[in-house]
Amino acid sequence: MRVAEFIDLALYHPELGYYATAPQRSGRGGDFFTSVDVGPLFGQLLAVQLAEMWRLLDRPAAFDLVEAAAGNGRLARDVLDATRANHADFHAAVRLHLVEASARARAAQADTLGPHATRLASSGPDLPASFAGALVANELLDALPPRAVVMREDGLHERVVTLSGDAFVEVDGPPAPPELTAYLDRVGARLERGWRAEVNLAAERWVAGAARRLTRGFLIFVDYGHEAPRLYSASHAAGTIASFSRHASDPAPGGWLKAPGTQDITAHVDLTGVRLAAEREGLETLALLDQTYFLLGLGAADRLGDRTGDEVADLKRRLALKTLLLPGGLGSTHKVLVFGRAVGRPRLKATSFGQRLT
Ligand SMILES: C[S@@+](CC[C@H](N)C(=O)[O-])C[C@H]1O[C@@H](n2cnc3c(N)ncnc32)[C@H](O)[C@@H]1O
Repeated sequence: MRVAEFIDLALYHPELGYYATAPQRSGRGGDFFTSVDVGPLFGQLLAVQLAEMWRLLDRPAAFDLVEAAAGNGRLARDVLDATRANHADFHAAVRLHLVEASARARAAQADTLGPHATRLASSGPDLPASFAGALVANELLDALPPRAVVMREDGLHERVVTLSGDAFVEVDGPPAPPELTAYLDRVGARLERGWRAEVNLAAERWVAGAARRLTRGFLIFVDYGHEAPRLYSASHAAGTIASFSRHASDPAPGGWLKAPGTQDITAHVDLTGVRLAAEREGLETLALLDQTYFLLGLGAADRLGDRTGDEVADLKRRLALKTLLLPGGLGSTHKVLVFGRAVGRPRLKATSFGQRLT
């Protein structure tokens, strides 16, 4: 089967898939950390940007806040805790939509949201048919199954998964079909002989679908990845698929093929492909920057000096800032893309420190 089909079954099979069998997979007791696991700070800073977006839309009485890859609703809860405390007018306008593939995670959302559950306008595996406001997706696109290709002497081939004894292995498949070569052409990628790479048509389709449904407002994607010239280069000549179990990545080639359903599988996001998909649907690219600068623009550094009188809580917040901002933490690996429809070209708070991409 194609690499994407294998990953789709391993992650999302309704009974045996990795994400189907637990309400939450990240955090200390899980397999990987996201910015949401670091604590409420990420949601608090995001709330600053969302409140500004609401003001830029002329303070509508109803603002659709769509979170995709919402899991059990922790980020939405952190955002709503912050808007209730600091942006009361905006808070009153929020109509929350949670989009999450895992039924187990969706079932836990009402509990996680607590008092905010009354704001929940919809929860399901698919995006609302249309929305006006803002969509946030933290680490969605890296979780969408990519296809894989390799450049050989006779041209590009798709990579496929097959059995060798009782082990799954990845091998060369037939010549790559036109949709894969067309994608690489679109993003300007030129693979050299021997290079293997991922092509995430699912991510491109997802972004285009979200863009079409946005009638007015913003899309915010946070994920790790690179622009195409770097992603499709000698530095990633073996591709970027990785698996995570108990916070460790299997370093063996093809480690992600082992024990499907028991470990997370991800691939770096092609930021160029995402940007072009949104722009083809008529969206304006408003920001493309490191998470570090995104969060600094939203006042992350000002929070360092906050003192609540609770020394442990204050120390935890400073450590969270370090993880979210400093090189080696999530701030340098994670990038933020912001798109707008019918909002002009506003200079967003999140870009106050410039659009730095490392
Ligand atoms: C890496 S986790 C990120 C969870 C959360 N956003 C966070 O940052 O902690 C990816 C999540 O995306 C969900 N997911 C995968 N494909 C999806 C899709 N097409 N629509 C909505 N959610 C999806 C998975 O079930 C999983 O909960």
